[in-house]
Amino acid sequence: MQVTMIGAGYVGLVSGACFADFGHDVCCVDLDPGKIDRLHAGVMPIFEPGLADLVAKNVKAGRLTFTTDIAEGLAKAEAVFIAVGTPSRRGDGHADLSYVHAAAQDIAKQLTRYTVIVTKSTVPVGTGDEVERLIRAANPDAEFAVVSNPEFLREGAAIEDFKRPDRIVIGTEDARAVAVMTELYRPLFLNRSPLLFTARRTAELIKYAANAFLATKITFINEIADLCEAVGADVQDVSRGIGLDNRIGSKFLHAGPGYGGSCFPKDTLALVKTAQDFGVPVRIVETVAAVNDTRKRAMARKVVAAAGGEVRGKTIAILGLTFKPNTDDMRDSPAIAIIQALQDAGAVIRAYDPEGTEQAKLVLKDVHYAQDAYDAAQGAEVAVLVTEWDAFRALDLDRLKTVMAHPALVDLRNVYRPEEVRARGFTYASVGR
Ligand code: NAD
Ligand code: UDX
Repeated sequence: MQVTMIGAGYVGLVSGACFADFGHDVCCVDLDPGKIDRLHAGVMPIFEPGLADLVAKNVKAGRLTFTTDIAEGLAKAEAVFIAVGTPSRRGDGHADLSYVHAAAQDIAKQLTRYTVIVTKSTVPVGTGDEVERLIRAANPDAEFAVVSNPEFLREGAAIEDFKRPDRIVIGTEDARAVAVMTELYRPLFLNRSPLLFTARRTAELIKYAANAFLATKITFINEIADLCEAVGADVQDVSRGIGLDNRIGSKFLHAGPGYGGSCFPKDTLALVKTAQDFGVPVRIVETVAAVNDTRKRAMARKVVAAAGGEVRGKTIAILGLTFKPNTDDMRDSPAIAIIQALQDAGAVIRAYDPEGTEQAKLVLKDVHYAQDAYDAAQGAEVAVLVTEWDAFRALDLDRLKTVMAHPALVDLRNVYRPEEVRARGFTYASVGR
């Protein structure tokens, strides 16, 4: 099939490369000429494991192309995916739909035959109706269907998630669109990935409900972790003890510094706003968003305590800046709030991240970027493990101790065993233990 992807970001580029790998002909269109130039040169605009090889393979096979020219991108399309950003709107927390609406207008002008327009961006309930209205107004004779097909991939595991999804949700009641979407995803039938067909509004809501539920699970275990610290229990054992109950499930019960990333923070907020607009507030999600927001900055208090109650003028080493490992994405990373809180308290920050430094430089000021964990720890009073990159899972603690001013480790991902670290002469704090 001929597929066009509008937006070549984390979702558009991965989805486009995976559809091409299934054998479809894919053209990725992006407004950003720098991104398209890099892709033409074989350079990935984002860090995602396996993506460079997948893109190279499919470009070589002639199934994957890139352009900034929407007319060229849409010339042969049978299905057009909208995979542009839907960030929080400044000021009110609603999803900013301006990129989606602009993409819809761009598509409308190019439609010459029946085309399935698929919203892959995460969009509030009713956006499909609005996209349909915009296209109809701009091109009254166009033959098309607007389908909701939310994406559930995680960064860092995006290709595997796209190719082996737990489910594919398709929101449409148009029979021709059902046939096109079934054909597109047919290669996944081998993996027995279920296709769930629903009404369009239902599909739109499934995406927000899924993210809000996962964010709730994380926030729940984070609050239990705080309680564990107060009562002398171990949150990892609590997680295991409850997660083995199949009704609860063991995933997304890892306590930490609060969830970050390009999805959970903005999507919980947008769901809260939608629910308020409809007069049906989702109070659990309101609380989850508020609790998570305060948690990130509060993690700085653990660091201050490990530094003896004062960080003014002291060097703090930050290990890991991205919101999770195996991505370069800094959007809403807990590291940002933690570093800013420590800087406000007068700390000097040395930081190291295996892939996120370039993105971090765009959001953080006055940080010294180090070459590795030991370089970051030079002269530091406390080392803070913020992101559980593999590079931090087996640190040489003796070496770390020799370069630090004072051996203290704050492990916000519970990577180490407390007794082991303390046995090496470190002051050690973690989360919920
Ligand atoms: P992103 O910012 O990485 O990429 C968006 C791309 O769209 C950018 O490259 C931008 O230049 C381009 N763009 C914007 N308007 C355009 C237009 N009119 N024509 C062509 N290109 C245009 O965003 P992302 O992280 O890929 O997220 C995209 C959507 O997918 C969002 O709605 C997000 O919530 C959702 N989503 C993201 C993830 C994730 O892990 N990042 C997972 C699931 C769903
Ligand atoms: C998330 C959803 O998982 C995915 O389905 C959706 O499509 C996009 O949003 P992503 O943001 O890439 O994916 O990463 P995810 O692995 O979900 O982690 C999000 C945040 O939660 C990270 O900051 C992570 O560290 C945190 N997290 C996750 C925890 O603190 N504990 C956990 O147990 C799991």
